[in-house]
Amino acid sequence: MHVLVTGGAGFIGSHTVVALLERGHDVTIVDDFENSSPVVIDRIEQITGIRPALAEIDLLDEDAFEVAFAAAAPDAVIHFAGLKAVGESSADPLRYYAHNLGSTFSLLKAMKRHGTQTLVFSSSATVYGDLQEPPYTEEGGRLDATNPYGMTKVMLERILSDIAAAEPGWHIALLRYFNPIGGHESGLIGEDPSGIPNNLAPYVLQVSIGRRPHVNIFGDDYPTADGTGERDYIHVVDLAQGHVAALERLAEVDGARAWNLGTGHGTSVKQLIAAFESAAGRTIPSVVVPRRDGDLPRSWADTTRAEAELGWKATRDIADMARDGWRWQQRNPNGFADDRTR
Ligand code: WQD
Repeated sequence: MHVLVTGGAGFIGSHTVVALLERGHDVTIVDDFENSSPVVIDRIEQITGIRPALAEIDLLDEDAFEVAFAAAAPDAVIHFAGLKAVGESSADPLRYYAHNLGSTFSLLKAMKRHGTQTLVFSSSATVYGDLQEPPYTEEGGRLDATNPYGMTKVMLERILSDIAAAEPGWHIALLRYFNPIGGHESGLIGEDPSGIPNNLAPYVLQVSIGRRPHVNIFGDDYPTADGTGERDYIHVVDLAQGHVAALERLAEVDGARAWNLGTGHGTSVKQLIAAFESAAGRTIPSVVVPRRDGDLPRSWADTTRAEAELGWKATRDIADMARDGWRWQQRNPNGFADDRTR
């Protein structure tokens, strides 16, 4: 298939583009590099030997996007593009609602103009809010979120479901990611957050290479095995392969349907730090600080539906994630900014 991938130069997007190319699909990346680097395109070519087509535009520029979409004439779309920092969304809700909803509306209008009705949408476990105890199941029905970023995902899942219910011919996968970490085994692509990392794994990796003095553990008084928060960390390559599995089975799915992409296991903050210490072969200093507002004690996926319906299951464990994340960070201490070819 020819797949148009919005946000294809991002962390999950780039790993998914590699997986698509390795499966023989053609890819057009649409990315404005607001939160990613053009170097990623070179790295994808280094890994796969194929340079994906690129349209460097903002999805909100509907005229430019129409030109790019018509030129690509894709069979399907995977939509990653969007703002995703939870804390930032609470500080500037309008920016998040306008950007994440507006860019998706621009995409959907182009898809309708061209009769493209196969879409994989990047959703998030955050849509479960604190409505369920883990393992979270897609059968749960009602969704909620505790921050504007998460609410854009709740709203967009509802909008996509309403469109699919109103118009025949749509095939829409709503993929709910848990906590993607790690990097490609080549060490050429990985997570490269701008500024101070909000998420645990990239922060730990920056401490491991000496860019930051220590990890701040947000609370060790949670009702969990060791008192620190437990999350379902999933290797980004497993996550990418989950997208390909969903895409390749989507033709058999009428309407919109949600699938969790997780491992089904919880790992604590302390356990994750220990895994990175083993991978890096060094101690990673940490200090316990007060809890972060809005954090849940524990979160992990029920993976039954994705296994049964997509024929997909994560295969990489925490040690794999730590090893591959460490290789990426060690070879790219300053992320893609290190690449002198630009
Ligand atoms: C993981 C654990 C923290 C940082 C977020 C978003 C979610 C999704 C994935 C987009 C928690 C603890 C963290 C640190 C810490 N993003 N922690 N020190 O919060 O589970 O999910 O990223 O879809 O929407 O909410 O991930 O990595 O921020 O936190 O102790 O410096 O690590 O308390 O227990 P989270 P996280």
